[in-house]
Amino acid sequence: MSAVIIDGKQVAAEVRAEVANKVSELKKKGIAPCLAVILVGENPASVSYVTGKQKALAEVGMVDRSVHLPESTSEEELLKLIDELNADDSVHGILVQLPLPKHINEEKVIMAISPEKDVDGFHPVSVGNLMIGRPGFLPCTPHGIIVLLKKAGIETSGKHAVVIGRSNIVGKPVSILLARKDVNCTVTMCHTGTKNMAEITRQADIIVVASGHPHTLTGDMVKEGAVVIDVGVNRIPDSTKKSGFRLIGDCDFDDLKEKTSFITPVPGGVGPMTIAMLMQNTLESAERKA
Ligand code: GUN
Repeated sequence: MSAVIIDGKQVAAEVRAEVANKVSELKKKGIAPCLAVILVGENPASVSYVTGKQKALAEVGMVDRSVHLPESTSEEELLKLIDELNADDSVHGILVQLPLPKHINEEKVIMAISPEKDVDGFHPVSVGNLMIGRPGFLPCTPHGIIVLLKKAGIETSGKHAVVIGRSNIVGKPVSILLARKDVNCTVTMCHTGTKNMAEITRQADIIVVASGHPHTLTGDMVKEGAVVIDVGVNRIPDSTKKSGFRLIGDCDFDDLKEKTSFITPVPGGVGPMTIAMLMQNTLESAERKA
């Protein structure tokens, strides 16, 4: 079998086009959806992610209130900025790009963002709402994965989904979303403490890989016809590239594409969906205001 390669770029462009239409409707009512992306320091991956978010904001016609602060910014200064943005009625979403410099407590910062503007879905109130199925902001990458599965026409109900990774950003929330009634998977969560990973992944109909390490999932670890969603973004040195590196996922793509029914590429799979769902959350926040 040779897999269908799920085009996340294409699906994300469709989501952004829907968002752009709704943004122009809101603007007619005098509301301009607005997101503040806060970046502290110069982490190259973070700079690149934030640039991608700003490009998307421009494309969907939202107001960009992004702030780039120096590495030396104190926790107090960052918390003060968040307070100001919380109090500013023209701002609908606040996102602090992670990771933060070591001298700043990430948990404190996430907790400082008003849950009404938490378009990342990282605040404990958002996490709690997700957990018990109340309306709230869904975290962007997990939500993007569900939308990708749906738009690719993949049957999920009654299927066995295996998630590799237990992070707060991906592994834990995507496991909960996959198990929700509207997706209806049976979910197994694997992590670094899992002893018989290949035995478990070979039983999976759908595998979401968010381990943060290349080569986590190899061809011999999946059954014929499985669906593989690769959330990994790893920079590996490549002297043939101008940047000196290229991106690979957490999966052995070339190996897996011969055995799976559907697979997401890196780049161009889950990544663009994360940004598209951020635009959708910001729109939702502005609509709630309206
Ligand atoms: N760093 C890596 N992924 C993310 C994300 O989805 N949101 C934020 N705020 N930081 C990140």
